[in-house]
Amino acid sequence: MTATANSPNGADAAGPTIDSGGQADAREAGRGAVRHLYVHLPFCAHRCGYCDFVTVVGRAGQHDAYVDALLAELALERHVLYAEPLGTVYLGGGTPTFTGPAALRRLLGALPAASEVTVEANPETVTPELAGLLRSAGVDRVSLGAQSFQPHLLEVLERGASPETVRRAVRVLRDAGFANVSLDLIYGIPGQEPSDLDADLAAALELAPEHLSCYELEAKPGTRFTHAHGAELERQEDAMEGYFERVVETLTGAGYRWYETANFCLQPGRASARGRDLRSRHNLAYWLGRDYLGIGIGAVSTVAGVRRRNRPTLAGYLSALRADAAPPREIEPLDDETRARERLMLGLRLDRPLPTTGLERVLDTTATERLSAGGLVELASTGGGRSIRLTRRGRYLGGGVTAELMRLETD
Ligand SMILES: C[S@@+](CC[C@H](N)C(=O)[O-])C[C@H]1O[C@@H](n2cnc3c(N)ncnc32)[C@H](O)[C@@H]1O
Ligand code: SF4
Repeated sequence: MTATANSPNGADAAGPTIDSGGQADAREAGRGAVRHLYVHLPFCAHRCGYCDFVTVVGRAGQHDAYVDALLAELALERHVLYAEPLGTVYLGGGTPTFTGPAALRRLLGALPAASEVTVEANPETVTPELAGLLRSAGVDRVSLGAQSFQPHLLEVLERGASPETVRRAVRVLRDAGFANVSLDLIYGIPGQEPSDLDADLAAALELAPEHLSCYELEAKPGTRFTHAHGAELERQEDAMEGYFERVVETLTGAGYRWYETANFCLQPGRASARGRDLRSRHNLAYWLGRDYLGIGIGAVSTVAGVRRRNRPTLAGYLSALRADAAPPREIEPLDDETRARERLMLGLRLDRPLPTTGLERVLDTTATERLSAGGLVELASTGGGRSIRLTRRGRYLGGGVTAELMRLETD
C-alpha cells in the first residue's frame, strides 16, 4: 500500500504518544511482543479495474488450502506474538468475506483472541448467514467497501454492489448486532462532480457508521483503468484538493473526529458512540509505529526492526507452507534513520502531537520554525520533551508539509 496523502493503508493506541507498546517488557518476560495481527485473504469475485491490492479471482477450490497455509504460517510465527488477547486482529483483502464460509469459520476459530477483531467485507457478500458467522466467531468490527452511492460511479469502478446493496448490508450487520461499522468511500472517480461527492457523503451519513475512511482514487499508471480514463483522471486530479476539504468539512461538521488524514470516527460524546473511542485500533498501530505480524500472500510484517514482505504468489505460498517452510519473502532490516523517517511520516497523519524525541536526526529545524511561523505546524513542550503536529491548514496540505519538515537523506 502506498502512503500518499490519503491513501488506504494500513492498536492498542489509547494514548497520545508514540511509544514502544511495552515491547521491551514483553521481551524481558520471554514472550513475543507483537500485539497486532494482519491476515490477508486475497480472493475476490472479480478484479475491479482500479485495484492494486494482492488479489486472486475465484479459486473456490483453493480457499481451504489457503486457510491451511495461513494457519501453518501462524504456527511458525506465533512466538513473536504477545499473550492473548492481542490488541487487534484484522482480516483484509482481497475480499475476506468472499472466502468460502467453512474455510472462513475455521480460520476465525483458530486465530488468537483480540480486543478488536475487524473483517473487511464487500457489500454484496453480506447476508444474514455471513453476519451471523462473523458475530459468532468474535468479530466486532466490519469495514464495508461502499466506495460510492452513485450508480454511474460504481459502474466506472466495476463494483458488484448497487447503492441499495450497500444500505442492505449495513442493515444486515446492524440486525446481527454489529455496533462498530466502518464505510470506505473513494473520491476523484472518473465522471465525478462535487455534487456527487456531497451526495455520497450524505448517503453515508444517513447510515450512521461509527467510522469512515475516505480515500482519493489512486490509479496506477499503465493499467487498463488508466488507459480507459486517462484525460478524466487528470481532471479529477485537479479537483482532488477541493474534494478532500469538502470531505473533512462535511464529516467534522457532522460530529466525526478527523483523527487521521483519511479516517474519521464518531466523537465519543455522540449518542450512538456511547462514550467509545472509535478509532481503528489496528490501523492506529501502524500509524503509531508499533510492531505487527502479517500473514498471507503479499502480507507485510514489522517485528523488532525488520520488515518482511511475503511474495504475492499463491502457488509459492501454498507449496512452501505445505512443507512447513517459511513462505517466499523479502527481508529488509530497518536502520534507525529509516525508522525515524517512517515514524515522522506516519505520526504526522494523526491529529495527536508526535513527540520529537529520537526524531531530531530527520527533522529539519529551519523548515520546522518556518512552517510553524506560517501556521502549518504546531510545536509544543510537553512534560517529557517537545512535540509536533500539523495544524488543520497543514493537514490539508498533508504530504507536502511533511516532506518539507523532513531533512534530506544524510547519506
Ligand atoms: C483492501 S481494499 C478492499 C476491500 C474490499 N475488497 C472492497 O473492495 O470493498 C480496502 C479499501 O481500499 C480502498 N481502495 C482500494 N483500491 C483503491 C485505489 N486504487 N484508490 C483508492 N482507494 C482504494 C477502497 O476504499 C477499499 O474499500
Ligand atoms: S473487490 Fe476489493 S480487493 Fe477485490 S479487486 Fe475489487 S477493490 Fe480490489
